[in-house]
Amino acid sequence: MATPLPASVEVVEVGPRDGLQNESTPVPAAVKIDLVDRLAAAGLRAIEAAAFVSPRWVPQMADGAEVMAGIRRTPGVVYSALVPNVRGMEAALAAGVQEVVVFSAASESFARRNINCSISESIERFEPVARMARDAGVRLRGSISCALGCPYEGAIVPAAVADVVRRMAELGCDSVDVADTIGVGTPGAVRAAFEAAARVLPMERLAGHFHDTYGQALANVLAALQLGVRSFHASVAGLGGCPYARGATGNLATEDLLYMLHGMGIATGADLQAVVDCGDYISRAVGRANGSRAARALLAARESAQAARASH
Ligand code: HMG
Ligand code: MG
Repeated sequence: MATPLPASVEVVEVGPRDGLQNESTPVPAAVKIDLVDRLAAAGLRAIEAAAFVSPRWVPQMADGAEVMAGIRRTPGVVYSALVPNVRGMEAALAAGVQEVVVFSAASESFARRNINCSISESIERFEPVARMARDAGVRLRGSISCALGCPYEGAIVPAAVADVVRRMAELGCDSVDVADTIGVGTPGAVRAAFEAAARVLPMERLAGHFHDTYGQALANVLAALQLGVRSFHASVAGLGGCPYARGATGNLATEDLLYMLHGMGIATGADLQAVVDCGDYISRAVGRANGSRAARALLAARESAQAARASH
């Protein structure tokens, strides 16, 4: 039976990190800073702002310290960053990150490609990171890539997801993201993965991170909502992709997520029209078509309204 829908959910904006990390042309730190500040001003309360990973692996994220130093810290906003190891953690703490994200995968092949180690080695690598987070009083989040499918291994069994969730819970993660990195999952797979994961960590500590490659992301959010998931990731203008999966699109667009949630009477704290402005800003700045259908429709509606006013 479906859990009653909530009055509000958390939206984690991952565009500045998961979205921009895929841009092949360098995006100036000033643009990243501006984007983060605009997103905070639009009412988003959790923003993944940077990654302290190897610049050899992800050159676009090399300016994490500069970005974190440049943003305005809006009270009530949690600014998070990805860290793959102790070195990244030291940099994240020095930069004043409030939440760090350790990341592994439900697929061995993907872990190897993304972080150059096995799942077990990644968990061992995160142990000192978790201790440092505890000592510093910084929130620790775990993220599990390829939880609904892998470009190398194909289908992923729910038990594999639950196993990594358990290991991340044992590390001390406050919450864990179940991520459909390549956007192949459908609501049935979402249900199976989250039900398995919730046997080791309560549903309210799990988050849905869906990419929209096959147009399933909103359906997957709805399926997870009905199971009791209360935190969802999205990227403004649908920025992003996956370097290891040709044709993979970005995350679910934040504007599309807000349009659906607000339409269902579920509060997010964000102002949809202001987020549309953020998406328009960054799409122009990186020279990309806006990947949000809701944003495109709302921008078109604004243009029609302006044209109608001008003709009177
Ligand atoms: P490695 O090559 O096995 O390890 O990388 P290494 O220790 O030999 O490091 C290589 C070089 O990077 C060395 O420099 C290190 O010093 C340096 P060199 O000596 O060659 O000049 N280095 C660092 N520099 C800065 N900060 C650091 C750092 N660590 C090492 N923290 C490693 C292993 C894990 C470091 C590497 O594989 C890595 O950084 N991977 C990150 C990959 C990544 O960021 N992927 C995208 C994010 S995950 C994602 O998007 C999925 C998610 O959104 C959920 C979903 O959708 O699935 C979260
Ligand atoms: Mg992602």
